[in-house]
Amino acid sequence: MIYLKTEEEIELLRENNILVSKTLAEVGRHIKPGVTTKQLDRIIEDFIRSHGATPAFLGYQGYPASACISVNEQVVHGIPSDNIVIKEGDIVSVDVGTFMKGFVGDSAYTFAVGEVSSDARQLLEVTKEALYRGTAQAKVGNRVGDISAAVQDYAESFGYGVVRELEGHGLGRKMHEEPGVPNYGLRGRGPLLKEGMVICIEPMITMGNRAIVFERDGWTVRTKDRKPAAHYEFAVAIRKDGPDVLTDFRIIEDSLI
Ligand code: MF3
Ligand code: CO
Repeated sequence: MIYLKTEEEIELLRENNILVSKTLAEVGRHIKPGVTTKQLDRIIEDFIRSHGATPAFLGYQGYPASACISVNEQVVHGIPSDNIVIKEGDIVSVDVGTFMKGFVGDSAYTFAVGEVSSDARQLLEVTKEALYRGTAQAKVGNRVGDISAAVQDYAESFGYGVVRELEGHGLGRKMHEEPGVPNYGLRGRGPLLKEGMVICIEPMITMGNRAIVFERDGWTVRTKDRKPAAHYEFAVAIRKDGPDVLTDFRIIEDSLI
């Protein structure tokens, strides 16, 4: 069942995703060599709660933290840990969820720590651009496959891998609603996009082979070849006049300068 949202519901989803954007900006200021991912998780939880929301990931299917923080070869769902210490040259994907006023926010951003290799820099830029190209397809009358193909074609044109085991999703009162939004697929296939749909698009792109493994902690996903991966995610409402991005990466990027 796909839930179409009213104007008011879309604004509540925007409020949540703006809070997620501000949370990502706040944590971005603290991602420095020497900090642990557990410390970053604490900053995220405090920030979310001090803004009247609760962390949507905490306790979700037993997930033990407020954010997913995935470093280098970790793709997504990295569990914050006292033992993971950020160092210069890392790429750090932070995925944050909020719950407030009956709706969920869910967005992710991959941060570079200091000077990263030019290969890593390109991986981040291409993954973000793949997200933007997918988003441009999120319009009434298109199909989910138009988004999927736009993401896949762009990422693969650089020789990168597109992770297939995980996908984007509808967003609303629940974090995961229909439809699923894969990052690979064929134009013109899949569910029709209608006015009022809200979806999260979240490409997970690998520098090497797309094969992943699930770590024994039951959550962390990493690349099989241990090459780096990037993950960006935002929420998009499908409106009469085109895609309406509810997350604001400018809030994050302005705070990085
Ligand atoms: N952005 C992730 C997703 O869409 C967040 C889920 S992580 C979990 O699946 F910890 F909450 F499960
Ligand atoms: Co998501």
